[in-house]
Amino acid sequence: MILDPIVTTELTIIKPDDWHVHFRDGAMLRAVVSETARDFSRALIMPNLVPPVTTFDDVKRYRQDIMAASSETAFQPLMTLYLTENTDCNDLVAAHESGYVHAVKLYPAGATTNSESGVKNINKVMPVLEKMAEIGLPLCFHGEVTDSDIDIFDREAVFIERVLAPLREELPGLKTVMEHVTTADGVDYVLSQTQNMGATITPHHLIINRNHLFKGGLRPHYYCLPVAKREKHRLALRKAAVSGDSRFFLGTDSAPHTDELKESACGCAGVFNASNTMACLAHVFEEEGALDQLELFASTNGCGFYGIEANAAKIKLLKQSKPVQFPGKIVTELGDVTVFDPGFDLYWSVQECSA
Ligand code: NCD
Ligand code: ZN
Repeated sequence: MILDPIVTTELTIIKPDDWHVHFRDGAMLRAVVSETARDFSRALIMPNLVPPVTTFDDVKRYRQDIMAASSETAFQPLMTLYLTENTDCNDLVAAHESGYVHAVKLYPAGATTNSESGVKNINKVMPVLEKMAEIGLPLCFHGEVTDSDIDIFDREAVFIERVLAPLREELPGLKTVMEHVTTADGVDYVLSQTQNMGATITPHHLIINRNHLFKGGLRPHYYCLPVAKREKHRLALRKAAVSGDSRFFLGTDSAPHTDELKESACGCAGVFNASNTMACLAHVFEEEGALDQLELFASTNGCGFYGIEANAAKIKLLKQSKPVQFPGKIVTELGDVTVFDPGFDLYWSVQECSA
């Protein structure tokens, strides 16, 4: 990382990876893939399509669709398999051996968008999880319980207590990633684990707290799952992200839904932030006096956890003296998708570096 000690108006870092993104398929995939491929070398692609990506054959097809949709030839989609109670161990091993699949995603059934085929009873998937531990295939999980008697703001903490901690005790050799951690409880749990435990953090959870969801009216474009929490949790996430601790890395959870589906009586969960992720992160890290840790968070901690090399390519972040304009919406054949509005002006932008 090269940081000018006098004027921090320019920052060159290893090209980042996004360790949690939703591309969807069809017209949406074609519209959003370049928003990620522009600033990121690689991205871990979430499998919650309709129907979900549950088999090695599904992975091969979906990966092909992504490659065909992306004009950035150097962009690499890292695929995930959607864990169900019917996941076949042999198919999973074959998917892993292909080199295409880098993680398996566990959605508790009903926890979030397109999670209906997810896991209802974790005991049913223990043989698969044991096999994953044996072959070194990480488990990424959406860390929320779904019980209706648990308050939505407590679902992450209760998941840790009831599901994650017992699982980690039973299978300490399984590499696990707490996706989009949103609470101080989650951060503390990750910090208490010295091996095989990581967490992704989204740009929006570093920027908004639950008040933003209701500021001056209902803000559907700030609604995602896990939902943003109290300010103290946002501060804990910021501290973890800028700490440089290798257990925390970037996963944008960029999750496009059309405005029509977001701005409805029952709006979909998901924030679309791929277009301005690096500008938002540079802003946050600068505010925290931690620009020198941005490369760890966005470019090296994640691949270190997944056991792959950091990218050779670099990007240059430039801070302008005037706000940079990002498109407010991405136009798709299905309708417009609103880009995450951090609620403040952005001064940073990304410049590709020549090799
Ligand atoms: C995601 C989506 O739309 O696919 N939504 C979200 O609010 N984050 C699913 C998920 O990651 O929970
Ligand atoms: Zn997600």
